[in-house]
Amino acid sequence: MDIAGKVALVTGAGSGIGRATAQALAAAGASVLVADIDAGRADETVTLITRSGGKATACQADVSAVAGVEAMFAAVERAYGGVDIVFNNAGIMSGEPTWPETPLARIQQVIGINTTGVIMGTQAAVHAMRGRGGGVVVNTASMGGLAPLPYDPMYAASKAAVIMFTQSCVMLKDTDNVRVNAVLPGMTDTAIQATSGDGTRAAAWLQPTIDEFGDRILPPEAIAAAVLDQIRDDSLNGECRVVGN
Ligand SMILES: NC(=O)c1ccc[n+]([C@@H]2O[C@H](COP(=O)([O-])OP(=O)(O)OC[C@H]3O[C@@H](n4cnc5c(N)ncnc54)[C@H](O)[C@@H]3O)[C@@H](O)[C@H]2O)c1
Repeated sequence: MDIAGKVALVTGAGSGIGRATAQALAAAGASVLVADIDAGRADETVTLITRSGGKATACQADVSAVAGVEAMFAAVERAYGGVDIVFNNAGIMSGEPTWPETPLARIQQVIGINTTGVIMGTQAAVHAMRGRGGGVVVNTASMGGLAPLPYDPMYAASKAAVIMFTQSCVMLKDTDNVRVNAVLPGMTDTAIQATSGDGTRAAAWLQPTIDEFGDRILPPEAIAAAVLDQIRDDSLNGECRVVGN
């Protein structure tokens, strides 16, 4: 797909990988619906894009809520008349206290954002793209969905589910001309590590891994580049691409 002139919806676009990808899509000529649960961060991303000459609109939405998904897709329709590219990217870690003391509400939140949000976002994307002859969905999984993560099993399970969901969506190419791929980042320099702890700093179990990565920690732009490649390359469908360190 040629990105120039297309419409993209990016979730979790107020920070990290989502922000970097929204900026890269706008720089490549797409109009971008910047969706995030944090309205202030979404506005910041829009400002960064528009200052660079790109087109973007902010939307406050919770991807884990039916109403949030409906609001995002209504907003992109209102702003740009439809959508060609959806990046289901918003995600969190489980935080403290760690498993098995994780509050039930937090377990539901992790699965609701990381997995159900991706599934609902993909379904809404397919429905929206039908009228335009197709499109591309990219989902953010994680290398944490490929191997056990003993301190955060909910995160690992939520990301493993995204990988299998993405691989199971390959038939959408034949039925709706929608390609669905996933990106599996390794340790990337974003604010998410703080969600493994108390929200302000990484958990004690994760910090040694972050320290060990040191200079090998990826910039979010490296993940954005992989996502744009998956959008551009029409041969890719069901690809789960590791972007590792
Ligand atoms: N950073 C890493 O090392 C790493 C590694 C592998 C996978 N990932 C995945 O990459 C994705 C992006 O994370 P990031 O690293 O850029 O983190 P980040 O914390 O910088 O960005 C996540 C964004 O998602 C938003 N968000 C959280 N809950 C939301 C909700 N319910 N609805 C809408 N938006 C919501 C946050 O406000 C934030 O702006 C996540 O799915 C994460 O699991 C990150």
